[in-house]
Amino acid sequence: MNKTRKNFSTNLTALFYILFQLIKVVYTDKSPPNIIFILADDLGWNDVSFHGSSQIFTPHIDALAYSGIILNSYYVNPICTPSRSALMTGKYPIHTGMQHTVLFGAEARGLPLTEKILPQYLKDLGYSNHIVGKWHLGSYTKAYTPLMRGFESHVGFWTGHQDYFDHTAEEKGMWGLDMRRNFDVAYDLHGKYITDVISNEAVKVIHNRNTSQPLFLYVAHAASHSGNSYNPLPAFDDDVAKIKHIDDFNRRKFAAIVQHMDKSVGEIVNALAEENILNNSIIIFSSDNGGPAAGFNLNAASNFPLRGVKNTLWEGGIRAAGFIWSPLLKQRARVSNQLFHISDWLPTLYHAAGGNSSIFKQRKIDGIDQFEILNENLQSSRTEVLHNIDNIWGSSSLMMDKWKLVVGTNYDGQWDYWYGPVGNRTESSYSINDLLNSSTAKALEKLNMLPDVDTILRSRRAATVACTNIEIDKCKPLEKPCLFDILNDPCEENNLADKYPNIMKTLMSRLNEFNASSIPASNLPIDQRGNPKYHNYVWTNWGDFNNDVNEHSTIHY
Ligand SMILES: *[C@@H]1O[C@H](CO)[C@@H](O)[C@H](O)[C@H]1NC(C)=O
Ligand SMILES: *[C@@H]1O[C@H](CO)[C@@H](O)[C@H](O)[C@H]1NC(C)=O
Ligand SMILES: *[C@@H]1O[C@H](CO)[C@@H](O)[C@H](O)[C@H]1NC(C)=O
Ligand SMILES: *[C@@H]1O[C@H](CO)[C@@H](O)[C@H](O)[C@H]1NC(C)=O
Ligand SMILES: *[C@@H]1O[C@H](CO)[C@@H](O)[C@H](O)[C@H]1NC(C)=O
Ligand SMILES: *[C@@H]1O[C@H](CO)[C@@H](O)[C@H](O)[C@H]1NC(C)=O
Repeated sequence: MNKTRKNFSTNLTALFYILFQLIKVVYTDKSPPNIIFILADDLGWNDVSFHGSSQIFTPHIDALAYSGIILNSYYVNPICTPSRSALMTGKYPIHTGMQHTVLFGAEARGLPLTEKILPQYLKDLGYSNHIVGKWHLGSYTKAYTPLMRGFESHVGFWTGHQDYFDHTAEEKGMWGLDMRRNFDVAYDLHGKYITDVISNEAVKVIHNRNTSQPLFLYVAHAASHSGNSYNPLPAFDDDVAKIKHIDDFNRRKFAAIVQHMDKSVGEIVNALAEENILNNSIIIFSSDNGGPAAGFNLNAASNFPLRGVKNTLWEGGIRAAGFIWSPLLKQRARVSNQLFHISDWLPTLYHAAGGNSSIFKQRKIDGIDQFEILNENLQSSRTEVLHNIDNIWGSSSLMMDKWKLVVGTNYDGQWDYWYGPVGNRTESSYSINDLLNSSTAKALEKLNMLPDVDTILRSRRAATVACTNIEIDKCKPLEKPCLFDILNDPCEENNLADKYPNIMKTLMSRLNEFNASSIPASNLPIDQRGNPKYHNYVWTNWGDFNNDVNEHSTIHY
């Protein structure tokens, strides 16, 4: 009897051992996905060709969009620094003090160091994090720069924009070089086009990655932000010359800038495919805010048919072109109307990376983990978005379900209208053959992910917003708050504030709650000690060289 029992237990032990090994193999085979986050700068709703206009043909971006999930109810903040702060912290800018305008290089502030940010969370899960391109979340001391905040390498720049070739930035009457390779000033990159610099570095990071760690690669383009006043739209003459169908010269240069970035997206996909890791990657494409149209910021973007521009709280300033792509997503190749905010990426990606997003409960973030919502195509768990509260400029906006409240406006209402160009919206002008012949489409084909032509066209139609852009009941936000039904009136043509006073009341009271939870904007006066002319004409971490920089001086505007 003893012998039988012993045999039995030995067999059991062996069985458990085999089971354990099996689980280990299955578990270790499923390595966490690589995450590539591509952030375009100032790209408008109507500046990609998957939203219905063929004017700027973006085959690589489109191919990923159709085979992934096009996020068509995707909101960001209206301007660079606030939006990037929400991406990194998962918090609305009113909760980090970043809600008012952008950070300037000679301003003694940054995204608060008390905030733990996306790469730091991913590092906890074993990720290796790299940034290429623009930071714009603080650099007056080293402590605020990417390498001190979870990234292992950075080729790119610290402030908000630059000339695409000489990499200098004009800001607040100051001027200096802003190009870094980690902490070193990258003088050697002079003359090299920024989109290519970013692209080449991203490809290098992919090829040189530590293969025993998952990769987080944050690709923050300079494109399509305007450059300096002496050359606001820096594009290659060859790229511009190829675009014969656009008459307006600025728009043509803008299109060349965007198409160069589209090519860069293709190069990143190629590198992932070459490394055989495309099948275990998540690619996100997003604009940081709406497009500066019609000469705003010396630029030529288009948010048509959406209202307004960058740095306004109209849909054109905040409803962004974006998608998530991955073979790991179950319900893909679709257009999603699930409400999604840029602050949702932190918990969503943390989940995708294998983390348990319930850790964010104590940290009081505003972002919501929507990984399973996207993965399984469930109803969004987000029911509201605070677009912003800017008590300095007196503008706020909140969305609850389909209702959007607009209180006040920026620029005294000068940018409250609709701007083109509309672009060619006939389907025959959209070159599906060129799209299918792109290197990205070929890479997708190998993964069995390339949708057929019918699906592509169906997605494109579903992603296209159509409106008349004729105001029915005029909204005068400087006089009194307005209300829109965004589901049925995505272009904000029909002000319903007088028609639905109770809904107005609900939204106003929710806005007041948010206002009560906000912290003051952290903006500071420009500090001359930050002027690059005192630092060899380089934008630098000047606060480290001055012991008397006062972080807590008062806002003055
Ligand atoms: C690569 O990653 C592994 C696992 O985290 C680590 O042990 C190793 O030191 C890393 N190698 C390099 C060169 O960083
Ligand atoms: C991806 O493809 C490579 C090469 O074919 C393969 O070794 C790997 O197991 C695949 N990974 C996934 C997650 O499918
Ligand atoms: C995540 O953590 C919470 C709280 O510790 C726990 O209740 C939950 O089961 C965890 N979820 C998963 C999927 O592990
Ligand atoms: C739009 O494109 C189609 C097909 O290429 C062309 O026939 C038509 O003339 C274009 N329309 C405009 C307004 O450019
Ligand atoms: C596909 O692209 C290649 C170059 O990338 C080009 O040589 C070829 O002519 C294209 N084919 C079609 C059918 O457009
Ligand atoms: C938020 O509260 C501040 C201080 O009480 C007030 O000045 C401001 O007008 C409020 N803003 C909104 C949008 O209610």
